[in-house]
Amino acid sequence: MSEPALVALRGASFAYEDGPAVIGGLDFDIREGRALALLGRNGSGKTTLMRLLSGGLKPHEGRLTVEGRPVSYDRTGLTRLRTTVQLVVQDPDDQLFAASVEQDVSFGPLNLGLPDAEVRARVAEALDALDIAALAGRPTHLLSYGQRKRTAIAGAVAMRPRVLVLDEPTAGLDPDGQERLLTTLDGLRARGTTVVMATHDVDLALRWADDAALLTPTGVRTGPAPTVLARTDLLREAGLRLPWGAAAAALLRAQGVLTESAPGPRTPDDLAALAAGLRLGTGGSGA
Ligand SMILES: Nc1ncnc2c1ncn2[C@@H]1O[C@H](COP(=O)(O)OP(=O)(O)OP(=O)(O)O)[C@@H](O)[C@H]1O
Ligand SMILES: [Mg+2]
Repeated sequence: MSEPALVALRGASFAYEDGPAVIGGLDFDIREGRALALLGRNGSGKTTLMRLLSGGLKPHEGRLTVEGRPVSYDRTGLTRLRTTVQLVVQDPDDQLFAASVEQDVSFGPLNLGLPDAEVRARVAEALDALDIAALAGRPTHLLSYGQRKRTAIAGAVAMRPRVLVLDEPTAGLDPDGQERLLTTLDGLRARGTTVVMATHDVDLALRWADDAALLTPTGVRTGPAPTVLARTDLLREAGLRLPWGAAAAALLRAQGVLTESAPGPRTPDDLAALAAGLRLGTGGSGA
């Protein structure tokens, strides 16, 4: 028996007002410690699913559970949920509202009624984790987009959630900003935070995620990222292309230089190591 999911939806359905069902009869698990990427075309329901998982929306049917216990949507239940799951929305301008970075990041912990010293410690830790301690006193409206995104994530991190749910966190960041964010997320994961990320970037998902969930018109398909992100049929259904790493793995397997069970490259460095080890292109015999 595997552990019960940390956060789970069971038989969840949701539709906006007069609209069609966005989510229908969905079973969905967030497993502790597993980096999970959520992928699908525009309008496939990624944001809706994230809001259901973080309690911002309530399923019309089915239920949300934390460690197997149903979440109650009253004040106490939602406060408890928010210390477990924190959502960072895609647009930081929808999340930031306080005058300064420090004020914004301290809002959540203050709202929990924590003592001042504890709030200060958490804010310092979150600013540090996001590498924005130097921006603490800056007005949020004067920050760059990437700095606003980091501030929004810091606000969630200051709640010390067990699960951090990020809606397209790398969208709009330059390549260096994306790398720094991934490093930051690795640091949070090393400290025990489970991270879920919606993204359109299949290469990023293959590189970063343990598991991938594809939102397709016929339902959500979840599994180990290298397996799911190599399924051209599912990717097509989800409106996504094959990650280059999966394409390279298929090529290397067809050439007999990579066995079926050996992991494919996730990064250019992996590919370089494989090429060096196997003397790719020199007619050398493979593994
Ligand atoms: N507030 C809302 N009111 C009505 N319909 C909505 C609302 N938000 C989303 N929808 C609809 O729900 C469906 C799923 O939208 P959602 O935002 O969850 O998709 P998404 O996968 O996050 O898309 P994107 O990649 O563009 O961010 C879409 O058809 C959308 O038009
Ligand atoms: Mg969205």
